Amino acid sequence: MNHQDIINEIRRKVDIVDIIGERIPLTSRGKNFFGVCPFHEDTNPSMSVSREKQIYTCFSCHATGNVFTFLENYEHLEFYEVLKLLADKVGIKLEGFSSQRKENPYAEWYQIYELSNKYYQNNLQTSLGKNAKSYLKQRGIDEEAIKEFGIGLSLSKKDDLTELLTKKNYSLNLLNTIGLSVGNADIYRDRIMFPLFDLAGKCVGFSGRIYEDKDENKYLNTKETPIFKKGMLLYHYHIAKEEARVKKQVIIMEGFMDVIRASTIGYRNTIALMGTALTKEHINSIKRLSQQVLLCLDGDNPGKKATLSCGEMLENAGLIVKVIALKDDDDPDTFILKYGKERFDGLVEHALYFRDYKIQILKEGVNFQSDEEKANYIHSVLKETTKMTDPIRIEIVLKNLAKTCEIGYNTLEKRFQELKKDDNQKNNTPFFLENSKTSKKKDKYQKAQDAIFLAMLDANWTIDEVVNSHVVFQDLDSRQLQSEITYYYHKYGEVTLADLYTYLDEKKNLLALLTNMETDISFKEITKQELYDYFRVMKEYNKSQEIKRLERKMSEEQDPKVQAEIGLEIVNLRRGE
Ligand code: UTP
Ligand code: MN
Repeated sequence: MNHQDIINEIRRKVDIVDIIGERIPLTSRGKNFFGVCPFHEDTNPSMSVSREKQIYTCFSCHATGNVFTFLENYEHLEFYEVLKLLADKVGIKLEGFSSQRKENPYAEWYQIYELSNKYYQNNLQTSLGKNAKSYLKQRGIDEEAIKEFGIGLSLSKKDDLTELLTKKNYSLNLLNTIGLSVGNADIYRDRIMFPLFDLAGKCVGFSGRIYEDKDENKYLNTKETPIFKKGMLLYHYHIAKEEARVKKQVIIMEGFMDVIRASTIGYRNTIALMGTALTKEHINSIKRLSQQVLLCLDGDNPGKKATLSCGEMLENAGLIVKVIALKDDDDPDTFILKYGKERFDGLVEHALYFRDYKIQILKEGVNFQSDEEKANYIHSVLKETTKMTDPIRIEIVLKNLAKTCEIGYNTLEKRFQELKKDDNQKNNTPFFLENSKTSKKKDKYQKAQDAIFLAMLDANWTIDEVVNSHVVFQDLDSRQLQSEITYYYHKYGEVTLADLYTYLDEKKNLLALLTNMETDISFKEITKQELYDYFRVMKEYNKSQEIKRLERKMSEEQDPKVQAEIGLEIVNLRRGE
């Protein structure tokens, strides 16, 4: 079997509905299954999965593809890794497959980071690591955590790593580019080294911490590179992934020391931002872990501020957000060290919903003797409450507010309803209206062309009909797509839309054509007559285009004789000759 055959066999043996359904809840409606799309911020079930076509399509963000592309994007895996995962699942051996379809341009970078990581880890275990070890021990980080998090040590020598790597024939230039050397010296010297991983778990950089009194930055991070972007990465993501899905909750902390500490008391569904603000990319990655997020940031003022802004962003993205508010000078690390596992378990169990947390914060510092401050407070609490959906929680908030401010419950309720109504009027565009599949409306001709393509993929017998009809697709990409489909069909005896998502992976322009089609329509039962009608529309269009072209040519022509000839040509075309 050649590669394509193996790919095809694997794809046909798995069911996309099962694979996606294991990761996001799907409900069946009609022929298709629907779920919340994990590839953009949403709460509506905008992704449809078709068992019949073995594809998924999001009508909001237009993500579409087959089971391979889904897993590549959802699990952050390379094509080969997905193939391996599915091959194992259905019991197919991947013999003779190279581990990467195309050479990863950063393969060498990964090798170098991996090598350095091993080197650092080893240093810590030598006699040179004695002081660093005792620092870690004094912080309560034991051998198990050292191993689990790959903690290492860079030596105080000037250039030992650079020397090691250049001896292995990695160029000095590259070592500078990837942030391990400056000139021919090491960047990291005498620091405790924490390897940083990308979302798929590959080492892409380091953070080095000082461990003896030193007048230097506490942490030194690898500079941003194409594979190490702090706005994209989350510490511990690749490990937290499994447990977050089981516990249906992911805990966000501020620093990686917090994450390491939490793991020592059994919390592995934790991730940390790496000293940056929360980005859209982070949120999309977090959404893939679970619906519920627990924010457990530092107790200081910056931590509080971050809790408010992150909570807002995460809620807007449709996640259920809860908050653990630590005391002023605590972070999860120090809290757990001081009070232990049981107390932390208690915090997790009694975490506040983000809105309740925010309402609690609003109360801080309000002078209830001042009518103005009190009124402002009431107004802001009511505004927060309009963002809540659970009527029971809303009632609790309003009752508490009535009590604290000594205002009638009915008055509050009435004002609440008014605010809610204003709010609804502001956001009353139904989500499906703004997100129709294509921004530009397609004309009759484009629709016919799409229909022909989809018919070719639904009912393969139409492929040869298209060839025989001599229908001409107008643009180059469409003509190429037609010949790719025809080629694949004749070579493998069968072709579906799902096949093409993988087969055309390198031809993005052709894939774009496919992703812009209304893939939900079925042409399985198309009749010859219907197919010929589409051909007719296309031919009509081609004719009108040709006439337009001739008319332009005629108007530019100076020679009356040639003009007359063109005119005749036009008349003949119009007559259908
Ligand atoms: P913190 O200062 O809260 O880290 O910074 P921490 O976890 O409490 O560290 P310890 O306990 O003192 O060892 C939170 C995160 O901000 C980034 C790091 O990613 C850190 O985990 N940071 C902080 C830096 O990148 N550089 C710094 O100098 C400090
Ligand atoms: Mn700390």
